[in-house]
Amino acid sequence: MNAPNRHLLGIEGMAPPTILEILDLAESYALLNRSGKTRRDLLRGRTLINLFFEDSTRTRTSFELAGKRLGADVINMAVSQSSVSKGETLVDTATTLNAMNCDLLVVRHNRSGAPALLAQKVDAAVINAGDGTHEHPTQALLDALTIRRRKGRLEGLVVAICGDIAHSRVARSNILLLTTMNCRVRVVGPPTLIPTAIENFGAEVFHDMRAGLAGADIVMALRVQKERMSGGSVPSAREYFAFYGLDAAKLAYAKPDALVMHPGPMNRGVEIDSAVADDPTRSLIREQVEMGVAVRMAVLDLLARGGI
Ligand code: NCD
Repeated sequence: MNAPNRHLLGIEGMAPPTILEILDLAESYALLNRSGKTRRDLLRGRTLINLFFEDSTRTRTSFELAGKRLGADVINMAVSQSSVSKGETLVDTATTLNAMNCDLLVVRHNRSGAPALLAQKVDAAVINAGDGTHEHPTQALLDALTIRRRKGRLEGLVVAICGDIAHSRVARSNILLLTTMNCRVRVVGPPTLIPTAIENFGAEVFHDMRAGLAGADIVMALRVQKERMSGGSVPSAREYFAFYGLDAAKLAYAKPDALVMHPGPMNRGVEIDSAVADDPTRSLIREQVEMGVAVRMAVLDLLARGGI
């Protein structure tokens, strides 16, 4: 067996038994969270620092909650990118944090590879909470847990990931995880938002929602990431919604029991219609948020005990 990984930087290279170990532990935390009994001693005396160079609601708060539920001291560092160049900021920050004896460092950054760079500079275990267009491993793990709880399995499911694949670290981590677990993954979107060579990741490409959603068990809508676009990829929100917005009519192309997901934040009326997002019989969006806390507790637990 390989030595456990001290950091969680991505899904890439993660083997099925490791994924299952995290999901099973997260499942037990999900049950514990629902029962209201949480273990407040596991991370007692440990320090978790949330270092977010980019905005976040769900991810930051759920890491904070996960750390606190396990008894850690949690610090949220508000980092502005201001005038300091990226390299200097990261190395300076790493030196400062190292001096504080932080145990767990949760990092979000708009540059791909920033958490990996920090991991080389600090003694803490580093968790990638989203880096540029690269990876967002805990999001893929919480999505997999949500799917498995509702469908009873991952293997053999048809998962259609729709929209802005090109700018999405969520899409990348999900494709890596779901193909590893033998799901059939499709990406659906306009050619301008589908990266070239995505087939090499094992995903099938569709440019039409009717064909892409046919027979799908899970339909995952992604946010149109305006902040990462250099212009011109999407004609207008209205036109985008007409072709790719997930509404009841397009969802009807999928299996009758297909379920809808979205990592948030949602652009309602752009990539998803409110009627679908808020339909409790079809939408897993709230459960995704709930599972986010459980998955992050599992990840913190494993890393604090030596690695994943
Ligand atoms: C995603 C992110 O930031 O990568 N959000 C999240 O973590 N829930 C997706 C997005 O920003 O669209």
